[in-house]
Amino acid sequence: MTDPLRLVVLVSGSGSNLQALIDAATDPGAPFRVVAVGADRDGTLGLERAVGNGIPTFVCRVPDYTTRADWDEALARLISDAAPDLVVSAGFMKVLGPTVLARHRVINTHPALLPSFPGAHGVRDAMAHGVRVTGCTCHWVDAGVDTGAIIDQRAVRIEDDDTVETLHERIKVLERDMLVEVVRALAQHRTWQGPDGLSSGRE
Ligand code: GAR
Repeated sequence: MTDPLRLVVLVSGSGSNLQALIDAATDPGAPFRVVAVGADRDGTLGLERAVGNGIPTFVCRVPDYTTRADWDEALARLISDAAPDLVVSAGFMKVLGPTVLARHRVINTHPALLPSFPGAHGVRDAMAHGVRVTGCTCHWVDAGVDTGAIIDQRAVRIEDDDTVETLHERIKVLERDMLVEVVRALAQHRTWQGPDGLSSGRE
């Protein structure tokens, strides 16, 4: 049997998507496992979840570096230390730099139907625009902000009484399933490119 795909998951907040990956990885025969969790800030629930599951963690804070390029280099090195096959940005609220992207294959999950509403406020921006359907997108990460090739999406209807919080919670229910399915498919196929539509656009 092939070794499980090694994942490094990057988080900034509550880490419910991380938890879904950790839980799915405990299935006997799961084709992936979370080998490290990285964050851009201390004291988050996401890091606590990792520690609680015995997963090594690292923190790489932008303000601790003189330049953004230094931070990018340090983050790339910390990720490399865990020797991942794939990096998953799951609620990581920083734009990854060129060094990380040159050295690592990265996917991201975003709470809107890209290419609409990229950026840090996908849920709020969709509501403000007045769309009736939004959702979530899993995509490869490239140098832009949420511009990489789309791997999968799920749609969610916006109800009249929704707030940003209620809508985001409903999106996250579908988002967690989507992310686990995408990672499982990537771990099983490992082609990174080809007829399954999972191309990273890099090779
Ligand atoms: C997720 O909805 C993710 O799509 C979003 O943050 C949430 C993290 O939730 N990411 C972005 O908005 C990135 N632009 P979690 O910490 O509970 O997994």
